[in-house]
Amino acid sequence: MANFSDLEKGALQFRKHTPLREVRFILAVGSGKGGVGKTTLSLLLSLTLREEGFSVGLFDLDFYGPNVLLLLGAPRRDILLDAYGYKPVEVCGIKVMSLSLLVSDKEPIFMRGLMAGKLLQELSQRVLWGPLDFLVLDLPPGTGDIFLNMIELFQPDGFLLVTTPHKLSIADTMRTLSILKERKVPLLGVVKNMGGLFKKEEALDEFLKETRLPVTCEIPFMSELSEMESLEEFLQFDKYKELREKLAKAVLKKIFRFH
Ligand SMILES: Nc1ncnc2c1ncn2[C@@H]1O[C@H](COP(=O)(O)OP(=O)(O)O)[C@@H](O)[C@H]1O
Ligand SMILES: [Mg+2]
Repeated sequence: MANFSDLEKGALQFRKHTPLREVRFILAVGSGKGGVGKTTLSLLLSLTLREEGFSVGLFDLDFYGPNVLLLLGAPRRDILLDAYGYKPVEVCGIKVMSLSLLVSDKEPIFMRGLMAGKLLQELSQRVLWGPLDFLVLDLPPGTGDIFLNMIELFQPDGFLLVTTPHKLSIADTMRTLSILKERKVPLLGVVKNMGGLFKKEEALDEFLKETRLPVTCEIPFMSELSEMESLEEFLQFDKYKELREKLAKAVLKKIFRFH
């Protein structure tokens, strides 16, 4: 059986032989749990990095509910496939590829592990991102096969672990964290989402104490989000300017230190 360093080398080799070689940094956003803000954070981060002048791609890898385009207020369109591969769509100055481009809105997504693994491999090899500073991966919930495949195929340069302070989210976050450690995926930090919404935050405090991890960024509950046609409007709110700066700084500082 291959040991981990062989796997690691294999993945980096793999990246070199796919269009991903033109991407400087791959950032994964995950949690373990659904509904805690992975997609929201992926989008806010992508938009913020774009505002900072970086070229950004966003890969919506949620097999169970691909909803990035919906949150960007983008109309449904057909995927562009040419002889060389799949072309991401340009939305709000970001290159986006989503599994929603491959299936109709009403179709249920039945995807068994093997099939999902094959599709994932195909997409990782054939999406024509072109040169990018950052590719943000919006991961699905769970830490099963798909999650592990993603880690192996994309070999992210950094992982943002998002959680709410609720104990249910924390329990799954703990599991994800141990996988990241085992697979030697660099952790960029813990993002606390929807702070202030829950009365009790003890579970998060305990988690931070036990793991000795700091919270790198706190995203408050923002009631405006549900009213936005497109999350791009987030960039126009002066009251969230500081939050955008903190988010960009937290990610950039770490990623440039790691690599
Ligand atoms: N900080 C926040 N403030 C307000 N609503 C939020 C925040 N983060 C997420 N939400 C809302 O919570 C729901 C789930 O978020 P989402 O990003 O889709 O989670 P996930 O991708 O982890 O399933 C969405 O309706 C989203 O708008
Ligand atoms: Mg999501």
